[in-house]
Amino acid sequence: MAAANMTNYSIDIADQSLAFAKMKTIEKKSNSKKERRNMSAQILMIQESERQRIAKDLHDGLGQSLTLIRLGLEECASLLDGNASSFARESLERQRQKVQAAFSELRQIAMDLRPSMIDDLGIIATMSWFFRDFGNTCKQIEIDKNISVIESRIPANIKITIYRILQESFSNIVKHAGANLIKVNLTEENNILSLTITDNGNGFKTAGNAKSNLLSSGFGLISMNERAKMSGGSCVIDSEIGKGTKVNVSWPSNLL
Ligand SMILES: Nc1ncnc2c1ncn2[C@@H]1O[C@H](COP(=O)(O)OP(=O)(O)OP(=O)(O)O)[C@@H](O)[C@H]1O
Ligand SMILES: [Mg+2]
Repeated sequence: MAAANMTNYSIDIADQSLAFAKMKTIEKKSNSKKERRNMSAQILMIQESERQRIAKDLHDGLGQSLTLIRLGLEECASLLDGNASSFARESLERQRQKVQAAFSELRQIAMDLRPSMIDDLGIIATMSWFFRDFGNTCKQIEIDKNISVIESRIPANIKITIYRILQESFSNIVKHAGANLIKVNLTEENNILSLTITDNGNGFKTAGNAKSNLLSSGFGLISMNERAKMSGGSCVIDSEIGKGTKVNVSWPSNLL
């Protein structure tokens, strides 16, 4: 992955580690399962709205400042008269390019934190952007997608869950799978909304059920499982050494 994306995965992982450390503390302190789940759901909701706020602040604050600096540099360049040294022109152009690069990086960080596109254009448009962006960075992995749902059928909390599960699954495929094909299906059939992400990579030894998989090293699979449950769905991970991995999350129609 590009350096900028790897940095963002690190932010994400640190963020998740903190949220799950908080959840563990809650688990120890609270008595009932329902209480624990409610509090964990609240932490994830707070985390999402914080990310949304930071992404907006970055875009509206720092983003606007960088744009003004770029416009200022372009104006300086236009004010240089014909006698100005080529050194001055080149120096201004270099500064303009650096500001532009900083702006692109900032947009990428804001998008990774929380794509405003989900709220503005919907999850289907965001998924298309995500696949394009991923394809530009990981050219060796083909993506085969089948998205046949109606945007208006999907509630807001499920949209963000779909996006986070997609992010984590793709991150896992890049980090662990060594795959060259990813299949993504988002469908509504037989009153069930279903997201499936399948890769043709190395696979790994699952411990038989979703809960035992949570004993694994990282936070990603735990996060997917928690997010699926908290949005009212369920998550199943099938994997076998040498046969790839399939992540499926489904939601019953009464939530749609
Ligand atoms: N698509 C995959 N292909 C092969 N192995 C996988 C895949 N997804 C997960 N794994 C295996 O399952 C383990 C646990 O995954 P998980 O996402 O929970 O943690 P991580 O990716 O190692 O760390 P984190 O997600 O916290 O950055 C991984 O370390 C890896 O061994
Ligand atoms: Mg992971």
